[in-house]
Amino acid sequence: MALSQAPSQAVSEDRLWNRHMALARHGATPRGGVNRQALSAEDIEARRTMVGWARDIGCSVFGDELGNFFIRLEGSRPDLPPVLTGSHLDSQPTGGKFDGVYGVLAGFEVLQAIRDTGQVPRRSIEVVAWMNEEGSRFAPGMMGSAGFAGVRSVDEIIAVHDARQQSVAESLAELALALPDVPMRPLCTPVHSYIEAHIEQAPVLEAHGVPIGVVTGIQGKRTFRVTVTGEESHAGTTPHRRRRDALLSATGMVQALERQCFDPLDITRFTVGMFRVEPNAPSVIPAKVTFSIDIRHESSARLVELGDAVTPLCLAHAGPCEVRVEELSTAMSLEFPESIRSEIEAAASRLGLGHMRLLSAAGHDARYLNDHCETGMIFVPCLKGVSHHESESATPADLIAGARVLAEVVWARANDAD
Ligand code: GLV
Ligand code: MN
Ligand code: MN
Repeated sequence: MALSQAPSQAVSEDRLWNRHMALARHGATPRGGVNRQALSAEDIEARRTMVGWARDIGCSVFGDELGNFFIRLEGSRPDLPPVLTGSHLDSQPTGGKFDGVYGVLAGFEVLQAIRDTGQVPRRSIEVVAWMNEEGSRFAPGMMGSAGFAGVRSVDEIIAVHDARQQSVAESLAELALALPDVPMRPLCTPVHSYIEAHIEQAPVLEAHGVPIGVVTGIQGKRTFRVTVTGEESHAGTTPHRRRRDALLSATGMVQALERQCFDPLDITRFTVGMFRVEPNAPSVIPAKVTFSIDIRHESSARLVELGDAVTPLCLAHAGPCEVRVEELSTAMSLEFPESIRSEIEAAASRLGLGHMRLLSAAGHDARYLNDHCETGMIFVPCLKGVSHHESESATPADLIAGARVLAEVVWARANDAD
């Protein structure tokens, strides 16, 4: 292969696609999706596969105390902060093959393309898989990137438990035991810039027939956990006046919240995605309900209003029960720097790829990296915009188009003179 070939020309569509299919075997579901929740056995096996691929092309691998995973292609100036790219390998319980994985594999394809051209970048280039982006097993999500960027403390993160009462700390110990030969390094290390590639998870690019999304920023999001406590008793013998039915109170809260968040313009996003009833037996009055709230809005001011209404509304609908509302994460709308956005646009234009600017309605680890270094994101279309669903799909042609743009931007940044 010619020494001067641009990495964006050396990326391989087949290799990128085949790696998606190979990683999708870790946690494959019968309906064609992926259940690979953070720090599960399946997540660990996916990392093991990536360690093998990384070492095969002569890259080093690292972990950190929050289970973030890095693959490093050493530059000629290893003392300089690296250019970082990547996303996450964990999935929702009924997730697809591309959410998160694409950013990691597109980044890895860029490393391999650079290797194949025989060139060495000035700065090192690293690919990262952040720990627990999804937040389905351990809430809230984006734990690894928040801890890396110093937005949340390690102590706060490792104390979080899953529904089976296993902590993040215990799960990180399992990871360390399973992959003992991955050396550790500190959190919060300096990074030159972070570029994350991701499927769009919405139908805008597909509707416009445009292969590249230049992400302007990420809409704001607030998440809560609500615990409603009543009292269990006999369904047949307990009269109405003595009942403290946690389910009835909780459903009243959800309906009131839904009315509060109803938006005729359809900009507000309101979701109760997790709802747990205890003891969950047909003839026992529910004693405890735990549910999640996820509210998103592109206007930070509106998000503040909607989020601030949650606790008063839950208290007003508690009836005879007690209610505790915990805010798990608060993230306002953000904008990525114009410098990276215009570089992504210019790279797409050089490659002859159509592009358009759009705001990300979904959350990404890039949110926290944006507090740490210059950050940007590249989107590619996914089928009908469907994501967080086992049928999530994307075409090899769109995936490689995004990887080409990523290669241009990463290569240019790794070789700039600053
Ligand atoms: C990310 O997975 C999100 O929920 O936006
Ligand atoms: Mn994702
Ligand atoms: Mn996701």
